[in-house]
Parts: sequence; structure tokens; C-alpha cells
Amino acid sequence: MVSFINDATIDRVKDDGNIVDIISSYVQLNKSGANYVGLCPFHNEKTPSFTVSQSKQFFHCFGCGESGDSIAFIMKIENLDFIDATKLLADRLAIPIEEKKVDNQRTRERERAYEINKTAARFFYKNLINNPQALKYLEKRQIDPRTIRRFGLGFAPDTWDSLYNYLVDKKYKSEEIEKIGLIGKKSGNNGYYDRFRNRIIFPIINTRGNIIGFGGRILDDSMPKYLNSKESIVFHKRNNLFGLNLVHKHSNREKILLVEGYMDVIALFAKGMNFTVASLGTALTNEQVKLLRRYGNNIYICYDSDQAGSNATLKAIDILLEEDIDPKIILLPEGMDPDDYIKKYGMLEFEKLFVKSLNHIDYKIFINKKKYDLSNTEDNIQFTIKIADIIRKLKSPVEQDVYINKISQDTGISKEAIEKEIKSKVEKKSNKKRNLKYNQPTIKPVTSEIPSGYLKAELELIKLAIEDKDFFETINDRLGKEDFSSNGNQELFQIISSEYEFNSKLDMDKLVNKFIDSGIEQNLINTLTETKLDYNPTQIDKILVDLMSTVVINKLEKQRREIIKNIENIDKQSETKELRLKLINLNNELKSIRQE
Ligand code: CTP
Ligand code: MN
Repeated sequence: MVSFINDATIDRVKDDGNIVDIISSYVQLNKSGANYVGLCPFHNEKTPSFTVSQSKQFFHCFGCGESGDSIAFIMKIENLDFIDATKLLADRLAIPIEEKKVDNQRTRERERAYEINKTAARFFYKNLINNPQALKYLEKRQIDPRTIRRFGLGFAPDTWDSLYNYLVDKKYKSEEIEKIGLIGKKSGNNGYYDRFRNRIIFPIINTRGNIIGFGGRILDDSMPKYLNSKESIVFHKRNNLFGLNLVHKHSNREKILLVEGYMDVIALFAKGMNFTVASLGTALTNEQVKLLRRYGNNIYICYDSDQAGSNATLKAIDILLEEDIDPKIILLPEGMDPDDYIKKYGMLEFEKLFVKSLNHIDYKIFINKKKYDLSNTEDNIQFTIKIADIIRKLKSPVEQDVYINKISQDTGISKEAIEKEIKSKVEKKSNKKRNLKYNQPTIKPVTSEIPSGYLKAELELIKLAIEDKDFFETINDRLGKEDFSSNGNQELFQIISSEYEFNSKLDMDKLVNKFIDSGIEQNLINTLTETKLDYNPTQIDKILVDLMSTVVINKLEKQRREIIKNIENIDKQSETKELRLKLINLNNELKSIRQE
């Protein structure tokens, strides 16, 4: 048994420690363009040729050629070995050292697996270079030789044993080759066969540069299109991503682009985009997100624009949110993937899509709008319920309000109804006994909703105010705009008051146009025009007082409920006392209005 520092600790030391800060405690650095320069501590010089790159977390001396990352710097300057240099940095950065006891046997087995994979990759590469048909395929897909080398692409010949024979020739044992999934056992214990045949080979490489597995794409339309290495001592699909090795090497760690396909990563990289990764034939995992977070917090998703792609996007969003990352989603035209898009429109156009990317809520709204026909009432309701479910999960009330407004505008359903829908399920969740009607939507088309007492009273008051300026003045003496319960009703009252500033009589038709122009919902306008006034003119004063009392009582009741709720939520004695006093005053006020 040997003692090692845990890999995760090493990564944290590299990621948490800023190389500029670390080197600054040894060398005086000055900013020069994107980099920092200073006098090299490793050789004598008078003009600075020692350069530190913040974005690459790397130093290089143009004078003596010394270079490396933060740990390499400490090794050199403190004259320590790797373990001790890492420990020293970890100590300075207050990172707890997790040492792990490693069983030599497993380490050796892993090293051996990397070695076999590397040998196999060389074999595949040689085969590709010598296979005109495979080369032609890549050329057709605009993958140039430089990109082939960068990704170490290869080709598995259309035979059953070329790789097997090649590896056995190199003295690797059948069992160990089989264990990492390069060959399979023939049935009846009758020897072995190559698993990858007649396929373009994509080596999957970890950030330490080891080949951990392979993906293989068939050249034609046969199935399966892709074949991947099976899980092995070195290949864990949940913990790795295709392309991450290159992101690790080249990206400035500002953003990450998640795509679905190996080919997308390759095509984008070939065109200069060095921050793209793809998961390994499975859905995005929490482990992958934890890994990705080190390479940039701005994560963009650009999956294929089809049903499977949008389902995968929704899943990925949930995983990212679980890891506290708020992703952006890039939309492509129907049926396209990033590779198709850049072939058709070019890289510049693709880069523009980042600016137009959606946050996850807007994306969900976008997806659901495609599913539902908002001009159909039933669809409209289902759509709103669906989005209400999404809005409910938002933590910020401000954000909730923005989306409630948006959806209200899209659907013509009142903000109040949407708010009610959102709140209804929160209550039901916390109170299982009331859960009986869970599946019954609370949202109904506003026109068919029977207004509750106070809403009816408010509309009748508004209608009376329109009918006669005297009535309006009586109402206006007692009520202000803010006494009405909804934004819509407040707006109506406001418009009526401003109209009376210049007119002594109002015309309903003209008013309706004004309401529409001010953005009042059609449903509300309909409800208002349909509100019937049935009263005895000699009783009008009493009726007005009754209606206004109903409105005020509702408002005070609402305040009372809120205060009671607050008292329930607050433990602190002093604040409760103040609220209780307010409650007593409110109760008195309510009592006197009721008496009136
Ligand atoms: N995949 C897989 N097994 C399959 C199909 C797909 O593992 N049978 C994975 C591969 O990682 C593939 C990704 O899912 O890269 C996306 O699939 P697809 O969009 O079909 O592949 P592309 O990489 O876009 O390939 P191409 O452009 O050549 O069709
Ligand atoms: Mn594709």
C-alpha cells in the first residue's frame, strides 16, 4: 500500500489557487496585456521574460524555458517533490488534504489499461491514415487532418481480429484487453473478437491525458450508429465528458458549451471553439456537472433541435440547477444539431446564438408553447397550469412576478388567477388533508368565473362610476384607486377618474377603446360590460355605501389575514407586539364598518 494525495485534492489545489497570487509572493509581477511578467526566479536576467498567464494558470520563461502550473512552480522554487509541493499549496489555501491509500495492484491495473488503450489508439490512427474510404468520410464531414490528430481519431477495420492480434502481439493478455472492452469473448469460450469494427474511432481522454475509452461511429446507416467502451476500471461514463481534455488545455474557463454529439464537439473545435463537451452516450449526470463547474460557471446547452434533444435539455437543466448552475439554452432551427448549423450558416452565426440564448424558464415556456395551441381554451388553461408549476419553484418573488405578467399577457388569463393557481398547490403541498381536489385546476377562463362578492362589488362600483359623475364623486370621496383588489380594477378606476377631469359624461364605447389601449385584459373588459346594474334609484346612496363597505371590508380582511400569517411566522416578541397592536386596530375598524 502506498499513500497518495487524492486526485480531487490536487484538482482543488490547482483550481482554487490563482497562479498569479501564488507566484506574486516570490516574484514581483506586472500586468502586460493579458498576462503578467516579471524577472525569472530560475535564471539570472535583467529584462523580464518570465510570463504568467492568468487564464491558462500557467507560467513560462522565454529566457530559460522553465514552465508549468502552480504546483510545478512550487516544486521548482521550494525544491520539493510533487506531493510535498501540493501539500504546501494546499496548506496555504486551507484545503484539507485527503490522502488515499492506494492498492498497488489496482494502480498497476489502471496504468496497464491506459497503456493498452494508448496502443489501441495508435493502431486505430494508423488504420485511418491508410484507409482512403474512412479518410474520405471525415473529409466529407469537413474534419481536417489537424483536427484528426488533435482528437486522435482513428478507424477500426472491418475485420474480426486485427486489433486483437495486434495487441496480443504486443504481449498484452486477452483477459486484460477484454476487461476494458476492446474485445469480446466468443460464445462457447471459443476465443475473442474485436468489438469495434468498420467504425470511425473517437478516443475518450481524461484531463490527465489518459485514454479511458472509445466511441465508434459506423460509416453508413447501420445500427447501432455509435458503440462505446463498456464501463471498466478506467472508464466511468458518469464521471467524464468527451472533449474535456481539450477544454482543460485550451479554454480560458469563461464558459462551457454542452452538446449532444461527439461530432458536434469535433466540428466546433475544428472551427476554433475550444469550450465544448458532450456526455458519453448517456444523460448528463451530477458528477459531470461538478466536474464542469471548474471550467466555467456560464454553462450553455445546445442539444439537437428535435424531441429527444429537448427532452435531454430539460433533464440537463434539472441536473444543472441541482448543482446551483443556472444554464443558458441555445436554440437551433428544427431538426438541426450544432454541427449542421455551423456547416450551413458558419461559425459567426453560431456565436450570435449565444447572445440570444434563453434562461431555463423562458426555454420551458418556449417548449410548452410549441406543445399547446394557445388559441384553444382548454390548451390555454393546461399551458398556464404547466407554467404555474414552473413559476412556483422560483425563489425570487420579483422573478415570479415578471413571469406571471408574461404568461398573463400570453394567455389572456388574469394575473390574479395565475397567482391563485401558483399559491393553491403550495398550500395543498403543506396540507395533505386538503389535497383531495389536487388535480382540479383552479384556473378557469375568467369569463365563466363567478366573481366573488367583493369582486362583484368592485365592478358594480366601477360601472356606477361610469354611469354618473355624481356617483363617481361619492365613490371617489371614500375610496382611492389602491382600495381595489386587482391591478386591472385599479387601472379601470384610474382611467375613469382621469376621464372625468375633462368630461362630465362618459361614453361606454369610447371608454372601452381607452381600456384596450391601456392594455387592460379583454376578459376583464367583457366582464365589466356584462355587469348588470339593477337598483332602485331612491336607494342609490345606500347601495353605494354597501358596495364601498364590501370593498373596504375585503381589503381590511386581507390585511388581517396577512398580519395573522406574519404573527404565525415571527417568533420575535417585539415585532409580534407591534403586529398585534395593528391587528387590534384593524379589528376595530372592521367592526365599525360592519356596523355602518
Ligand atoms: N450515442 C451513443 N449511442 C448511440 C447513439 C448516440 O452513444 N447508439 C451518443 C454518442 O455520444 C453521440 C451522441 O449520442 O455522439 C449524439 O448522437 P447523435 O446526435 O446521433 O450523434 P452525432 O455525434 O451528432 O453524430 P452524427 O453527426 O455523425 O450523426
Ligand atoms: Mn450530428
